[in-house]
Amino acid sequence: MLSSVPILAIFTAVCGFVSNVAAVGPRHQLLSRNDVFNTDEQTYLWSHDSVRVFHDAPGMIWNKTLADAASSWANNCQIQHSDGTLLGGTPYGENIVAGSGVFGIADAIAQFTLDEADYDPSSPTYNHFTQVVWKASTQLGCAVTECPNVFGDVPANYYVCLYYPPGNVVGEASSNVFVGGL
Ligand SMILES: *[C@@H]1O[C@H](CO)[C@@H](O)[C@H](O)[C@H]1NC(C)=O
Repeated sequence: MLSSVPILAIFTAVCGFVSNVAAVGPRHQLLSRNDVFNTDEQTYLWSHDSVRVFHDAPGMIWNKTLADAASSWANNCQIQHSDGTLLGGTPYGENIVAGSGVFGIADAIAQFTLDEADYDPSSPTYNHFTQVVWKASTQLGCAVTECPNVFGDVPANYYVCLYYPPGNVVGEASSNVFVGGL
C-alpha cells in the first residue's frame, strides 16, 4: 500500500513545534464569519506563495476539499500525520505544526520553511520546506484548531495543511525543488 503512495511530508514530534506561552485571544473579532474565512484563506495562500516565488514555483489555489479534510483532521487534536487516510485513497501532501501562545497563520507557515537550511539538492531530503515549495503541488487547503493540553496543560493552535498533487515524491526533487533563487 505504501509503495503506491508518495512519501508524505516528513514530520517528527519535535519538528516545527514552537512554544511561546501567552494567552490566545480572539482575533479578527470585527469581521464577519465569511470575512474571517476569506482572510485566513488568503493568508494561507500568501504565506506559501511568498516563499514559492523565490523557488520558481507557481502560486497555489485554494481547494475546499483539502481544507475540509484538513479541518476534520485538525479537530481531532492528534498532533501527528494523518498518513494518507483523509481522502479515500487520493494521495496528498501534509504539513502540520502546533504552537502555543499567539501563533498565527503566517507564524505556522514560517515554521514549515525553517527546514530549508537542511535541504541539500545533491542528496535531497523531504521535509516541510520541500512540500511548501514543491512546484507540482498547486492546490492547498489548511485549517487550524485550538487544542487543549498540547504542551503539558497549555493549549496550542494546531495547523494542518494539505497539498495536491502531493509533493515530496522520492526521485522528483530535482525537477520540483528549485534552490537557485535569491
Ligand atoms: C481538490 O482536491 C481533491 C482532493 O485532492 C481533488 O480530488 C480535486 O480534484 C481537487 N479539485 C480541483 C478543482 O482540482
